[in-house]
Amino acid sequence: MKKEESTQKWMSRVLEAIVETSRDHLLITDHEGYIRLVGDSSYEVYGIGKEELLGKNVIELEKRKVFSPSVTRKVMDAKTPQTIMQEIPGGRKLMVTAFPVWNEDGSMHSVISYSHDLTEIMELKRRYEGLTEQLKQFETEIEELREKHQEGFVAVSQPMQAIERLIKKVAAVDSTVLILGESGVGKNVIAKEIHRNSRRAGGQFVEINCGSIPEGLLESELFGYEAGSFTGAAKQGKQGIIEMANQGTLLLDELGELPLTLQAKLLKVIQEKRLQRVGSTQYRDVDFRLIAATNRDLEKMVKEGKFRQDLYFRLNVVPIHVPPLRNRPEDIAALLKRVVRSLNERYGMDKRLDPAVTHALMQHEWPGNVRELENVLERMVVTADEEVITPSHLPAEIRLAGEEQVAMEPSLATSKMSLREALEQVEEKWLRYASEHCRTTGEIAEFLGISQPSVVRKLQKYRIRSK
Ligand SMILES: Nc1ncnc2c1ncn2[C@@H]1O[C@H](COP(=O)(O)OP(=O)(O)OP(=O)(O)O)[C@@H](O)[C@H]1O
Ligand SMILES: [Mg+2]
Repeated sequence: MKKEESTQKWMSRVLEAIVETSRDHLLITDHEGYIRLVGDSSYEVYGIGKEELLGKNVIELEKRKVFSPSVTRKVMDAKTPQTIMQEIPGGRKLMVTAFPVWNEDGSMHSVISYSHDLTEIMELKRRYEGLTEQLKQFETEIEELREKHQEGFVAVSQPMQAIERLIKKVAAVDSTVLILGESGVGKNVIAKEIHRNSRRAGGQFVEINCGSIPEGLLESELFGYEAGSFTGAAKQGKQGIIEMANQGTLLLDELGELPLTLQAKLLKVIQEKRLQRVGSTQYRDVDFRLIAATNRDLEKMVKEGKFRQDLYFRLNVVPIHVPPLRNRPEDIAALLKRVVRSLNERYGMDKRLDPAVTHALMQHEWPGNVRELENVLERMVVTADEEVITPSHLPAEIRLAGEEQVAMEPSLATSKMSLREALEQVEEKWLRYASEHCRTTGEIAEFLGISQPSVVRKLQKYRIRSK
């Protein structure tokens, strides 16, 4: 045998073996589409045995729908490599890639196609997507737990707990919410809680303060404007705040300050769920949940003709009345704790409140509500040199009022009792006071700065019944 021949034989054997053993299914045709070589797995892939395929033309097989479509035919037409997805009997998915092979003179020599079964990869992809979805769910749960742990939103008192339940209920639906209450009671915080708990949490929470934007600009801020609609407008026009809240939540803050002319326009947007930018005739659809907040008496304003009645009815779907802090002193201790913790974090400090300070702050009327409480506390924490904030750091008006109310020490000059008796008397008074102001023995412990078991022991000793 000539050496030349043996090499050719060797090569063709290797080629056959490559076609047989390849994990991709191989199919090779000549330049006219006649099948010259095909992998052993053709029956599994096309439902037709190798012997039957050899010598057949792909165009004919495409007509018989054995290949639909035939990637080899596509390569012959386009004269470039082609990739297609093929579904084969049994619901399996193939990715088929075919390449033209050229002669030296530039004419087509043959076409080689590789079919790769993607069923397994698709299954893996499906499982991967399932796992990713699950992971996302876990992340949300962890986030929720973390937020709960941080106790961002304080609701200890009965009225605030009722508000917390209401927040959860309205968050689940898309109803308009009207939040009413004095300045600083936490109206914005509640609006954010509703957004955070709602299915719109992924969208934006957009706030507009109707009282702080000049009347002339408020309309373009709310609705946006078209290019060149007024002097000073941006060239390309601008999206308004309502559009930004699309898929999210829009908070109209200080609603009582909204001018009458805009009240009519706003009503229209709420009813139609679409708006026109200033200077435009075109309508844009918007989908948002509306929350309005005000410290004004809207009902009175309606009577005085300062607020449109129809808009008021439209907004007053679910009203949330937030009580002032003086009507819910049970929230004060938790708020103080939260504020001290966040100040410590913000300024890298480790300050604590003396129980007597907590006590005095719980007595205060807080005309400025939670905001005032935060400000007073920040001033004390930041200005005190000591780690423990004592009554001496309290602003004079709070300290004096507190002292008047809580004269708890028996007077030394007039008393005939022993020191031990005097201490017990003070202890009993403090315990009685705490048990009236706290709901659980845990809270009493927190309030007095002692352990919960000793609270229980002392309550028994003085026969005080905790609430
Ligand atoms: N329940 C609460 N839990 C935690 N923080 C609160 C709570 N309520 C109010 N705050 C805090 O008090 C401050 C004032 O709250 P917010 O701005 O929501 O009040 P507001 O009612 O909107 O006041 P205004 O009428 O002046 O706009 C904020 O710093 C807020 O974080
Ligand atoms: Mg506010």
